[in-house]
Amino acid sequence: MNQELEDIKFSLLWPTVVMQSTFAENLEESKKEIYRLTSLPTDIKKSNYGGWQSDVHLQENPVFKPLCDFVDAMCARIFKVKGAKFHQMWACINKKHDQNLIHSHTNNYNLSGVYYVNVPRDSGEIVFRDPRPGANQAPYRLFKDDGDSEYFMPSQGMIILFPSYLEHFVLPNRSDGDRISMSFDLTLER
Ligand SMILES: [Fe+2]
Repeated sequence: MNQELEDIKFSLLWPTVVMQSTFAENLEESKKEIYRLTSLPTDIKKSNYGGWQSDVHLQENPVFKPLCDFVDAMCARIFKVKGAKFHQMWACINKKHDQNLIHSHTNNYNLSGVYYVNVPRDSGEIVFRDPRPGANQAPYRLFKDDGDSEYFMPSQGMIILFPSYLEHFVLPNRSDGDRISMSFDLTLER
């Protein structure tokens, strides 16, 4: 074997990291509070196509403090920083056929995330799109790059963190139940 072929070097440039964990505490309290919030007036429209979205300051609501504390600890552990500063947090309810169109959470933040409070079966995967321009159209793909999107099937208590620039969308709720999630944007506190 030619020695040069043995010594091929790889540089893994610009990987896109999506992180997952589970926070199963407080789900019932969170669900109850989100339904209570639906009775308050709101005219918020974000990526939702159908569906309801709360105001964007739920990080100030004491019911969601355990979740914020958990995400804070998660960030401290992953990134070796003091923790996370929440800039926005809101709740979404997608009923049958509701979905979220493709969007990103802009580069004003380091990370965005989603937490799943209630997830009936077949109520809509979250789909992340390959952020590299042109990579989605490449006819010959290398390594694991064999598709332009990655599908994540949510489950109750799941937390997903991702870079805020990463485009994503949510498939329509195909169930008869309510798909309840909470989204948030944060920066890391160094
Ligand atoms: Fe989003």
